[in-house]
Amino acid sequence: MVPQWIIEKKRDGNILTDEEIRFFINGFTAGTIPDYQMAAMAMAIYLKGMTPEETAVLTDAMMRSGAMVDTSSVELPLVDKHSTGGIGDKVSIILAPLAACAGLAVPMISGRGLGITGGTLDKLESIPGFNVNLSEEAFIETVKTCGFSMIGQTGEIAPADKKLYALRDVTGTVASIPLITASIMCKKMAEGIDSLVLDVKYGAGAFMKTLDDATTLAESMVRVGKAMNKGMVALITDMNQPLGRTAGNALEIIESMECLQGQHADDDLMNITLALTAEMLVLGKTAATVEDAREILLGHIASGAAFAKFKEMAVLHGADVTALDDLGKLPKASIVTAYEAPAAGYLTRVDAESIGRAVLVLGGGRQKTDDVIDYAVGTSGLAKIGDQVAAGQPLVTVHANSPDKLAQAMTYIEKAFEIAPEPAAAPVPIVARITG
Ligand code: URA
Repeated sequence: MVPQWIIEKKRDGNILTDEEIRFFINGFTAGTIPDYQMAAMAMAIYLKGMTPEETAVLTDAMMRSGAMVDTSSVELPLVDKHSTGGIGDKVSIILAPLAACAGLAVPMISGRGLGITGGTLDKLESIPGFNVNLSEEAFIETVKTCGFSMIGQTGEIAPADKKLYALRDVTGTVASIPLITASIMCKKMAEGIDSLVLDVKYGAGAFMKTLDDATTLAESMVRVGKAMNKGMVALITDMNQPLGRTAGNALEIIESMECLQGQHADDDLMNITLALTAEMLVLGKTAATVEDAREILLGHIASGAAFAKFKEMAVLHGADVTALDDLGKLPKASIVTAYEAPAAGYLTRVDAESIGRAVLVLGGGRQKTDDVIDYAVGTSGLAKIGDQVAAGQPLVTVHANSPDKLAQAMTYIEKAFEIAPEPAAAPVPIVARITG
């Protein structure tokens, strides 16, 4: 096969065969197809698209470019969740112990934050001693012992994606539905799971800005997962305002531990978390319906089992769990100051992107992959769309470690809120459910 002929075929809008796709990905992984040909192919796919069948083959080829996690010794149903990411998205930290309490095995391989989007690994690393770099053996042992484990991507999983994503990033080819689908799904499918629940976010703080784009991506990923014989459900959820009340690593751990202990009964964060976890239980057949599943999960929160399960996992990852019983031991910022409402009225906008930028400039996120994170900084006590506020009432508390960074963050915080004389409806947290 000749790489340039395959590029020309896609450039002209034709459908590639299984063999052509696998030849291209295998050659790119091995280094026999150079970056410039892969970049040209990525642009051809970006412009001409791929059929669902081509996308499934691309995903499979990328998954097989490296190692697959061997979960054959795990006896429980293996179910995971993936989120396309957003501001204040700490769902995984609450969902995984809940799912484990309900009889599922959750081998979760998560990412780090980049840009305004936070990452689960950074949040976990704000707990003193927490090690996200377990060997595959220790990862599987942890899943078998306590039902879940949360680690970072290993170099062996889907190396084709790592190389291709780096190329897409600098060639204007990130925003392609087949390429995003293959990139996300190849890593999740390499985890050795039976089923996957997707949280596809849309809005100002999300990767997908519109509901239409989020729906198209969700449908594409569900289709590919099903073609690979996995149980699949996607929920489309709101990311116009941040999720929950905190954004920033240690602050999000505090909120997550409060949720696991039942202190946030019915807010957007708990509603989305319970809905996603309930879907996992139904896919894993440990509950008959999502309504039954929700009751089971609320029971594990009320009994203290969910919080105990998180601590059990954290111990196996080397964490000092006294910091979870006494949350005051987590990293703390030196400057804590409230941003107050400039007028009375109703909040009609709490812009996720602006809050994300504020956390980023405080040092709570990364502009480049090798930036060092300040775990203590961020925002807490966030008021939400629909809230009635008095003039001078705190809308958010900002946690900073430098007056300069605080001043920069405040320029974004000021832009985040809009107050109007008339009330606005709170956004619907879950707007759609995609099953195929
Ligand atoms: N996240 C990924 O892992 N890959 C993409 O292409 C986009 C988001």
